[in-house]
Amino acid sequence: MKQALPGSRPLCTLSAAREAPQRVMCDGRALVVWMVDDVLPAVIDDRCPHGNARLSAGYVLYGRIVCPLHMWTFGPDGRAQAPGGRVEAAGPMPRSYECWISGDQVWARIAA
Ligand code: FES
Repeated sequence: MKQALPGSRPLCTLSAAREAPQRVMCDGRALVVWMVDDVLPAVIDDRCPHGNARLSAGYVLYGRIVCPLHMWTFGPDGRAQAPGGRVEAAGPMPRSYECWISGDQVWARIAA
């Protein structure tokens, strides 16, 4: 049972993650939770490395979260794609976290 793993936390309801990207504060970290598809959640740091925007203020397109400022997109692994293909980050890329669904909650393992 993954919930028993150290650092495992429920982040938000599945219905909320399906509705829109969710900003969740967990152990002092700002995270964004979204659904890649109907059964696959994703959790990465809620900070765009291009200009520090909150990714949770963006939207989901083809399973990737889209930054609301300049439309960089991020996959569940935290890798960025920029329009036109150039990726010049002002900060470190978002960290991704192991996540899963249990019951009506999205869980993640937030290791130190
Ligand atoms: S701040 Fe996110 S793409 Fe520029």
